[in-house]
This record gives sequence, C-alpha cells and structure tokens, in this order.
Amino acid sequence: MSGPGTEVASRPIGVFDSGVGGLSVLAELKRWLPHEHFVYYADTAHCPYGERAPEDIERLTLRGVRWLEAQGCKLVVIACNTACAFSLHSVRAATSLPVVGLVPALKPAVAQSRSRVVAVFATPVTLEGSLLQDVIAEHARPAGVRVLKLWQRELVPLVEHGQADSPFTHALLKELLTPALQAGADALVLGCTHYPFLIPALWAEFGDAFALHDSGTGVAKRARALLEGAGTLNVQRRAGHTQLYTTGDAASTESVARQLHPDIAGVQPIVSSEVPA
Ligand code: DGL
Repeated sequence: MSGPGTEVASRPIGVFDSGVGGLSVLAELKRWLPHEHFVYYADTAHCPYGERAPEDIERLTLRGVRWLEAQGCKLVVIACNTACAFSLHSVRAATSLPVVGLVPALKPAVAQSRSRVVAVFATPVTLEGSLLQDVIAEHARPAGVRVLKLWQRELVPLVEHGQADSPFTHALLKELLTPALQAGADALVLGCTHYPFLIPALWAEFGDAFALHDSGTGVAKRARALLEGAGTLNVQRRAGHTQLYTTGDAASTESVARQLHPDIAGVQPIVSSEVPA
C-alpha cells in the first residue's frame, strides 16, 4: 500500500544540538525507532551555547531547524536543553513540522529522591530558563524538594574534544559535585545532553551515591508516540541510516562523534551559504 502517509514515513527525523551532545539523545531515538532514518545537525561552529544570549541561541536554533526542514525531515527533535530553555515556543511557531523538545528530567528525580535534595546539572541558560522554572514550581516546590543548581564551564568543551573520561574531567566533576553530596543530594539530573557522556567518570568518582536522570528515553518515547499518532512511523524492515552534519570542522567532529556513537558512518560539513539566515 502506498499514499501520502507512506511517503512521509520514509523521510528522516531531524536532530538538532549545539554539538555532539545530542548524540546521547540519538542513541535513545535509535533504540526506540530502529527503522527510522536520522539527519543530525551539530552547530559545532557556535558551540558552546551555554553562556550565549537567549536571542542569539534562538537565532541559531531557528537556522538549524530551517536547515533540517529543507532536508525533508518529517519531525525535528531539539536535543539541546539550552536551545529549548527560551526558544522552544518560537521554534514551534516558526515551522509546520512537529517539534519535540526537552527539559531537565527533574520530575522523576523529585519523585524518587529520599533525601528531598536534588541537584540539577545544566548550563546557565537552562538553569535560568522558563522551562526549568516551570518544572520546579510544578513538581519540586509542592513536594518540598530542594533543588541545587550546578554548572561547570569547561565540561561541554571537554566532551566536544573527546575528553569526557579524562583525569581533568574527573577532577572537575569531583570538585563540582562533592559539595552537592555533602548538602544531601541523592539525585543528579543531567540537564544537558552532553552530560550522559560523563556517566563513566561520574560512576568512577561517586559510584551509586547519586541516582542519575536524563531526558533521552522520554524524548524518544514522545517522538515515537507523535509519529504513531500521525501515521508516519517508518515500518520498513531494514535498519534506518544516520547522517551527521556539522557547521564546524567535519574531520574533528567525526573523530569525536565516532567515539561517542559507534554507528556514525561519516560527518559532512554544512556550507554556511546553504543555511537559511
Ligand atoms: N547539549 C546542550 C544542552 O543540552 C548544549 C550545551 C552547550 O552548547 O553549552 O544544553
């Protein structure tokens, strides 16, 4: 059987991040949607986003989403908490595609914390963004849970440079998280998509002292539900393929991306004149 739904079903899902962090979300998307094709946009030339002005992040995010739309994507996942923090509403208003965003996974952390102290580890833009404030007001405050906000400037660049498990990274995590542990936190929300790549270092330094929470599975389930609802799930029997694009240097992005995500076949550069302004 073929028809408009079948044509849309075979189109790729677009995934957007400031860099390689969204590969942690891509891994979950591929687990829940194994037959889908993916086009990944890494805005490496402008990474990190974490300390940029919200209007700058909004402009860069819109550019990426328009580029993904021009590649024929059927749905876009903004796999970047920082991009979602202030821009999710304007991105949704600017495209006719369904857009899946993410917010730090504070809700499950609040539900499971025994000590009633939860640490959220994210960029300054995410920590101050309206999405997180809403979740704190709706879930943490009524439950009497204290939320500690943590950030470390060098960790996203370290992940981008393939140093997620280096001795320096371990030392930074120890310095950042020891006070949170001493303050009684028993849950750590990984509120930046780069941070799931720090899990081996977190385990080595802290064992199971913190329950770790990230948004990858929730995002993948949401994307799957949207496609099922629209009748545009790809039901082909073959495994889907993934293509990565970067606004930065393709060779260095490729070598880090391959370390973080074994299925990456190659990385193509995006010529800036091809990106909508
Ligand atoms: N991966 C991103 C996030 O989820 C962005 C990190 C950055 O570029 O500072 O927040």
